[in-house]
Amino acid sequence: KGSSNLKILNESYVSDDFTNVSSKILSHVGRGLLNQEGHPLNLLKRKVVDYFYARFKGHMGNPIFSVYDNLPPVVTVQQNFDSLLIPKDHVSRAKSDCYYVNRGSLLRAHTTAHQSELVRMGLDNFLVFGDVYRRDEIDKTHYPVFHQADALRLCTQGQLTDRAGSEVVVFEGRTGKETPEKQAEHSIDATKIMETELKSTLVGLAQSLFGKNIQYRWVDVYFPFTHPSWELEVHFNGDWLEVLGCGITRHAILRSAGAEGSIGWAFGLGLERLAMRLYDIPDIRLFWSRDSGFLSQFQGKKPTDTIRYKPVSIYPQCYNDVSFWIPEGFVANDFYELARETAGDLLEQVTIQDDFTHPKTGRRSLCYRLTYRHLERTLTKEEVNKVHETICDRATEILKIQIR
Ligand code: PHE
Repeated sequence: KGSSNLKILNESYVSDDFTNVSSKILSHVGRGLLNQEGHPLNLLKRKVVDYFYARFKGHMGNPIFSVYDNLPPVVTVQQNFDSLLIPKDHVSRAKSDCYYVNRGSLLRAHTTAHQSELVRMGLDNFLVFGDVYRRDEIDKTHYPVFHQADALRLCTQGQLTDRAGSEVVVFEGRTGKETPEKQAEHSIDATKIMETELKSTLVGLAQSLFGKNIQYRWVDVYFPFTHPSWELEVHFNGDWLEVLGCGITRHAILRSAGAEGSIGWAFGLGLERLAMRLYDIPDIRLFWSRDSGFLSQFQGKKPTDTIRYKPVSIYPQCYNDVSFWIPEGFVANDFYELARETAGDLLEQVTIQDDFTHPKTGRRSLCYRLTYRHLERTLTKEEVNKVHETICDRATEILKIQIR
């Protein structure tokens, strides 16, 4: 395979052996759902922005967070991973999980990719909204393109002292040790002040979206770019839903971005899953709908309006199974992607039905159930069979599976 030129948002990129973006994925780049007036993701974005504007004000009553919602999604490997201290061998870098434009660049896998450059520009309180791209499973809550919000807030020793009302020492000097509660560079006092502000800000955000009476809990987690780190989970009709990840920004990140005098907190959250709860949207594919049956229910609405989406009607599902022997090195995400590429948004879900290894030959066979449903009309069985057969043919040819 030779290299060729890829055009993304009017920029040219040379493809190489790492390139795995497809034209299907690229067709989502530049849709601008976040900035589309009256789109549910735009309404949710405005709710988040309004919350931050109201909560964090300067001396003159002015909002202090800057908002970025139009940064192009092609970023470098340096931005998406290296600048955030993500180890070279970290799983999140794998070709099976990301959409690479080439060896040096990819469609961002999180909006955190912009954190370091914005700090280097001198910003100390900012929100970033953007479309992000990940290769993943297929079901009602996963789509290879979704949207995130990220935030970072920096405080200097002086600002922290002002806020606490008495001298706060931020940095420990050379003798500091990392513990589960703090980084080596930071004092426990400064870390706790930041942690308290971070957690109350985020609980306040969740309450402003879902009401004062929500049940929530904090879970300790790990991110390469924050320490300590937490996840906020909120209880919704019987389930704990992971709402966001956050933590105290790694000092090494701030140091190399020229903010060595500050301590910071950061968080990132996925917008679709929140919007689905907030507006009762049953399927993540609907965010991409151009159908007025969907869009008209949000048009002309204000961020403060209560909106309950009512499905226009539910068209029936249709499923087909496929069993095949897999070759060595088979990656499930490659199959999901090929199926999605072929069926487009007709494909609602792919679930594994059976995983079997032959006792004698040691060969492994998988059975998947592919569920099809059109969001706007009823599919015929012939139509589904045709698509399903094309998936089987292409998987045989491209992924070297062997249909049973
Ligand atoms: N980037 C993380 C994610 O996509 C979320 C995050 C952002 C966590 C910032 C901590 C700080 O899951």
